Amino acid sequence: MTSTSTSSPHQFPEGSDAFPHRHLLGIAGLQPWEILYLLKEAEQWVDLNKKSSKHADRLDGLTVINAFFENSTRTLLSFEIAGKRMGADVVNMHAAQSSVKKGETLIDTAVTLNSMKADAIVIRHASSGAVQLIADKVDCPVLNAGDGRHEHPTQALLDALTIQRRKGDISGLTITICGDVMHSRVARSNIYCLTTLGAKVRVCAPPSLLPDALDRMNVESFTNFDDALAGSDVVMMLRLQSERMSGDFIPSPREYHYLYGLTKERLKNAKPDALIMHPGPMNRGVEIDSEVADDLERSAITEQVEMGVAVRMACLDILTRKSRGVEGWS
Ligand code: CP
Repeated sequence: MTSTSTSSPHQFPEGSDAFPHRHLLGIAGLQPWEILYLLKEAEQWVDLNKKSSKHADRLDGLTVINAFFENSTRTLLSFEIAGKRMGADVVNMHAAQSSVKKGETLIDTAVTLNSMKADAIVIRHASSGAVQLIADKVDCPVLNAGDGRHEHPTQALLDALTIQRRKGDISGLTITICGDVMHSRVARSNIYCLTTLGAKVRVCAPPSLLPDALDRMNVESFTNFDDALAGSDVVMMLRLQSERMSGDFIPSPREYHYLYGLTKERLKNAKPDALIMHPGPMNRGVEIDSEVADDLERSAITEQVEMGVAVRMACLDILTRKSRGVEGWS
């Protein structure tokens, strides 16, 4: 990138590409203006998605492969809807029904997808770093739909878009992320995204679920949820990721709920207009009570899902511009 000086760290530098990356593998390393550009581009798709006819021809003739080696509802469906709404041919590969089950390696699978001339490949995998491995082997843009406990960049972008639309400028907001931070790629991507955009990020979890790496991530750590909630503008809850846990990290779900569950009573510690978020899937009655999750005024959980389609449309559009010969990225 040819970067020139800017008057604000959030301002797009003149003379450089708006988003000069081939892949979207994570939020770490992205500049604030690159994140803001993705969010700005997503706005047009939010508007389209509210119309009765939602078709755009931006990706006509392109093939998008969603290769999911781990279960998903929101991410898989929203990438599929995003590609189809923009006119692409979208194909889903579920690892459980693929030759992965016959022992095919990840790299052989990647080479196979590449030979089918995909224009973009979206990958979810249980291993941190697996998406980077595939990106190194293929000729098209790769989008990380969640790899192990590493990153889930489009989730962070859709969360940022939701916060921005509800609260305005993210810079200066106090945002508390509570739950199984240790195993959460959502927490990691959100920490990178929100701190890069200037938010004050707090993380809260039992000591057994707070990773040491937080010391280097520009966040404030809490083990007392009430303390973490005090003065928060946004409260983002995470589920316990039992599929990534070996051994017991909490005494019991009941005790976890008592100490770290978001209840209507406990929410009173946050600002009166604090926004409630959860990436899903939720474990109601464990990390969040239904009374809070379903509060139409305070909860942005369904809006997060809505923003997910728009953000993924923007990402597919932006990353395929080079192959579509679109000039002038800004
Ligand atoms: N938030 C999220 O990644 O949900 P899915 O696992 O359903 O895709």
